[in-house]
Amino acid sequence: MIQARGASLVYYDHGREVFACRNVDLEVRPGEFLGILGPSGSGKSSLLYLLSGLKTPSSGDVAFDGRSVGDLNDEERSKMRLNDFGFVFQQPFLLGYLTAIENVTVATVGKAAYEEARELLDRLGMGEKSHRYPHELSGGERQRVCVARALLGDPMVVFADEPTASLDHANGSQVVHLLNQHRGSGSLVMVTHDPSMLAEADRIVELNDGMLASGHQATEVATGH
Ligand SMILES: Nc1ncnc2c1ncn2[C@@H]1O[C@H](COP(=O)(O)OP(=O)(O)O)[C@@H](O)[C@H]1O
Ligand SMILES: [Mg+2]
Repeated sequence: MIQARGASLVYYDHGREVFACRNVDLEVRPGEFLGILGPSGSGKSSLLYLLSGLKTPSSGDVAFDGRSVGDLNDEERSKMRLNDFGFVFQQPFLLGYLTAIENVTVATVGKAAYEEARELLDRLGMGEKSHRYPHELSGGERQRVCVARALLGDPMVVFADEPTASLDHANGSQVVHLLNQHRGSGSLVMVTHDPSMLAEADRIVELNDGMLASGHQATEVATGH
């Protein structure tokens, strides 16, 4: 479905090359919860940018259903991100002047989306608070609104970039659990530095200095799920 082959991402820092990802071979399989574990600065966010088509690899390739990201134009890539992918970030980015449910539907239109948003918020335990503004919610509740926004429209893949980093352990675990439980048939790709947040993952790969531990499938940690 998503396939990275020898993918590298290079940033230029005052003319100096910084390899954020180096020669990554990784596949996102349909319906799996893939955990990517790595310390701060190991290239986790950069790898998610590559896997979600937000950035094009400096070398190597990332392909979506067999189509190389380099062959997609900007419009095709943004369409893919909007329709097929959902995103949850470290900080719960919400618009302060919109209610919870308005934040969930902000990128979509129509009554159907609103109904779906209401149902999602309900399932995430936020039904009663769906008309509150972000400042009237706790950090964990705000992140649950972000989870609802990411799951709206049943995306094929949800990408989560350290979604628990701003939360305490209990709230963090709950957010991961809810993401995992309500993603339907879509895949979940989550990066984190905290192994305890990957207890429900089907597969875990480790990232260090932009490299998957020792390359490929051999580095996978079996989770028994
Ligand atoms: N825009 C940038 N310019 C230069 N270097 C960057 C930039 N963004 C990230 N980096 C570097 O790339 C490496 C990986 O960063 P990142 O993907 O954000 O790691 P993580 O998400 O695991 O903390 C780090 O060494 C970081 O300093
Ligand atoms: Mg990061």
